[in-house]
Amino acid sequence: MPSHDVLIIGAGLAGQRAALAAADAGASVAILSKVHPVRSHSVAAAGGINAALKPQDTWESHAYDTVKGSDFLGDQDAIEIMCREAPDELLHLEHIGVTFHRNDAGELGTRAFGGASAARTYYVADITGQAILHVLYEQITKYHETVDSYEEWFTTSLVQDDEGTCVGCVARDIRTGEMELFNAKSVILASGGNGQTFKPTTNALICTGDGIAQAYAIGAPLMDMEMVQYHPTTLTENGFLITEGARGEGAHLLNSDGERFMEKYAPNKMELASRDVVSRAEQTEINEGRGIGPDGGGLYLDVTVVPRKRTLEALREIVNIGKDFAGTDITREPISIRPGQHYIMGGVKTDVHGQVPTVAGLYAAGEVACVSVHGGNRLGANSLLDTLIFGRRAGQHAAQRSRAMPMPTTPTSRLRQDLEHIDAIIARDRSGRRISEIKDELGTMMNRNVAVYRDADGLATAHETVRRLKEDATTAYIDDRGTVFNQDVLGAIELGYMLDTAQATVVAAIERKESRGAQFRTDFPERNDDEWLKHIDISRNGDDEPHVTHSPVTMTQWEPEERKY
Ligand code: FUM
Repeated sequence: MPSHDVLIIGAGLAGQRAALAAADAGASVAILSKVHPVRSHSVAAAGGINAALKPQDTWESHAYDTVKGSDFLGDQDAIEIMCREAPDELLHLEHIGVTFHRNDAGELGTRAFGGASAARTYYVADITGQAILHVLYEQITKYHETVDSYEEWFTTSLVQDDEGTCVGCVARDIRTGEMELFNAKSVILASGGNGQTFKPTTNALICTGDGIAQAYAIGAPLMDMEMVQYHPTTLTENGFLITEGARGEGAHLLNSDGERFMEKYAPNKMELASRDVVSRAEQTEINEGRGIGPDGGGLYLDVTVVPRKRTLEALREIVNIGKDFAGTDITREPISIRPGQHYIMGGVKTDVHGQVPTVAGLYAAGEVACVSVHGGNRLGANSLLDTLIFGRRAGQHAAQRSRAMPMPTTPTSRLRQDLEHIDAIIARDRSGRRISEIKDELGTMMNRNVAVYRDADGLATAHETVRRLKEDATTAYIDDRGTVFNQDVLGAIELGYMLDTAQATVVAAIERKESRGAQFRTDFPERNDDEWLKHIDISRNGDDEPHVTHSPVTMTQWEPEERKY
């Protein structure tokens, strides 16, 4: 049985940063991922990473913008840590080889991003996540004696000892179908979000909420799950991301009358208000009949106002995306976009070291986690930062914790249960529904009822549907009965993860009877700090039903105020 001090599940930026930090601290590390590490979803964070690095900028200003962006739901102690540590992390990345853009004077150059009072987004054209991910992967190869990489291994469960401490996981080698128990002193979840519960989404097919559901299943609380971010610029046809970097470079949003409608909603920041504000403005324009396209469901993003040379240099990825996936040359004509699911602010509740409060030995970092630095709405370019800062902190803390303890003995019963579960999925006859059909229904339904605008009726329908789909999933069948690269089996297990996490989102959205950040309730249109300036925590308490509790928001120096852009 493989045994390591620190076992990391997920090899995107949070996982790789955690691995490097844990290895630097002397731990033996395993990093396990269901895809090759450089295919992780971190590549999708295109536009940049925030840090208050310029002499005239301050971490306090970055922190205030983040608190305001979160609609005052973010925990200010965690936000302070993230923003204070950002400049050193960014310089560290540069020193290990990330080729950040430099201006004509040879200095690190920035672009503006939404909700920020200063241009503090550092970038590599519009492939920033990808550029950082490749450099971290390269660095990991230097640690081949202490970091074991298990690529294309799919985690089926977290394993606990008799006291409830997390002591490893069960995983399936996707190439062979072989199941293995991994033994560890500490486990760090870094397996990303659950964007695939919505259709369409900017998220990769791998973003099925695995870590969130696995932690939830063993008693970890989920926090802020109602807060789902709709990115203002996704392709109307298919939901592909068009980076906020486009608006950072000066692109305009226009309605069917050719009007720069953000003037009405955010006269100071215009297209660079925070994402929840811009997406809501867009949805209002669409709902009120000023959208474009055959069904009026889109709006124009006009990048032609950016000098062509600059677009070709700084936004080359979206030039290609526009051509390949919308047939539009964005340097010559506006492109049709609309708000689309992009990110979840919620996730597994952690402290500022990444520790999950109720499950000893378990950590989480990145989109799978909720520390909560994003609260009700994440600022663009704060997600790469979150993954790196809290990935590093989790890696360091887990390594330190592991130093003081013997290797635990991982019980084997979970391995047997998971094997039986997979055998049962494979053995199902064809009387039930297809996995893909259930997944499609879930995604379309979530995108209809749990989107930019929500109300009690839509959320009740959503809950009813999720419950029914959970039932359907118990008999859903697969075609592939083999062992080699059996993606069907993984799809069936992922469907369960998606349904569990979607249910947590719906239950939390029903619970929060106010409008804050990404949650806008048309039946409760105001923010209500007296009753709802608190987190919603969802946990399972040993049964399959979500239980709701509340926890306080940590405030250090910023009192809630009206949010204007
Ligand atoms: O628009 C973007 O480039 C996305 C960045 C992010 O979500 O941080």
